Amino acid sequence: MVLEMRSQENSLLKISDLRVDYKSYWYFYHVLNGISLNLKQGEKVGLIGESGSGKTTLLKSILGILPPQGKIVSGDIIFRGINLTKTNNNILKEIRRKSIGMIFQDPLSALNPVFTIKEQLFEILKWSSEYKKQLNEESLKEAAYKLLTEVSLPEPDRILESYPFQLSGGMRQRVMIAMALASARELLLADEPTTNLDVTIQDQILKLINNLINEKKLSLILVSHALGMISKMTDRTYVIYGGDIMEEAPTKKLFKEPLHPYTKLLIESVPRLYGKGIGEGIKGNPPDYRNPPTGCRFHLRCPFASEICRKKKPELISIENRKVSCHLYTEN
Ligand SMILES: Nc1ncnc2c1ncn2[C@@H]1O[C@H](COP(=O)(O)OP(=O)(O)O)[C@@H](O)[C@H]1O
Ligand SMILES: [Mg+2]
Repeated sequence: MVLEMRSQENSLLKISDLRVDYKSYWYFYHVLNGISLNLKQGEKVGLIGESGSGKTTLLKSILGILPPQGKIVSGDIIFRGINLTKTNNNILKEIRRKSIGMIFQDPLSALNPVFTIKEQLFEILKWSSEYKKQLNEESLKEAAYKLLTEVSLPEPDRILESYPFQLSGGMRQRVMIAMALASARELLLADEPTTNLDVTIQDQILKLINNLINEKKLSLILVSHALGMISKMTDRTYVIYGGDIMEEAPTKKLFKEPLHPYTKLLIESVPRLYGKGIGEGIKGNPPDYRNPPTGCRFHLRCPFASEICRKKKPELISIENRKVSCHLYTEN
């Protein structure tokens, strides 16, 4: 079966030159502008960048769950040797049920309001189980209890009978993690998993995710504004701006010694942006994707921009064990 296929070099996920557009009635939005990302088996990577830079679009592209207006224009997403951009829907579904799980930014939009937690969890368990629909009520319940216990939810009976709106934000997020875990046998995509939660609960949830991925030996792509957590939980981090990867480095190195002007500004502005709400963040806005800037997409906001930055998109070049896409580091 497809899921038994092994790819070479230990690579679990290899994204190359991925371009994604959204189409509205009047416009095309050219959002992802040639993203490349690599993940080895067991590796944990962070993905950071301001709101609107394309992080959720990238994760949804991997799972094949872009909204109807979104379209992969070109590029490859190779998961265990299978090109997800070219494979059929059945294989994609199989991968979503058994291999890759996603924790969404907003649990309320990911959970179905008209079904109880039990109905939703059972549905996922049926599909992710080897026995498919043959699981009976008793064994489904057992599996659901086990999952709810893993995400430290007490009173599983009460939770199973509840509708999403009857649970607190923290509990909903735990339920969503349980659901993601039911299908994440290999890779977990976590999209700002704590954004809508109280600060005290944020920490607990991130610790929970960290423990579970270690226990289950999952690979991870973590999108978060909590740079402290990115730094604790990931081996490598990608910085994305305006649909382009600006920089990629071992996480500790990136935070200690950022190369790209955007990364520097981002790291400086984060405590102010997402902490106590004082300060301005980075001046300006993410690019207008209908008519994105030529050359480097960051040049309009970059304090170091020169003529070449307006003209030519910088290549992602390697410097030791890291990569950066900036003309300050090319020989022009
Ligand atoms: N359904 C959509 N239709 C049109 N444009 C969209 C849609 N979803 C996202 N976009 C565009 O893609 C950009 C990136 O969005 P997103 O991937 O959600 O960024 P992030 O997760 O980094 O905040 C948005 O600023 C928006 O312009
Ligand atoms: Mg997002």
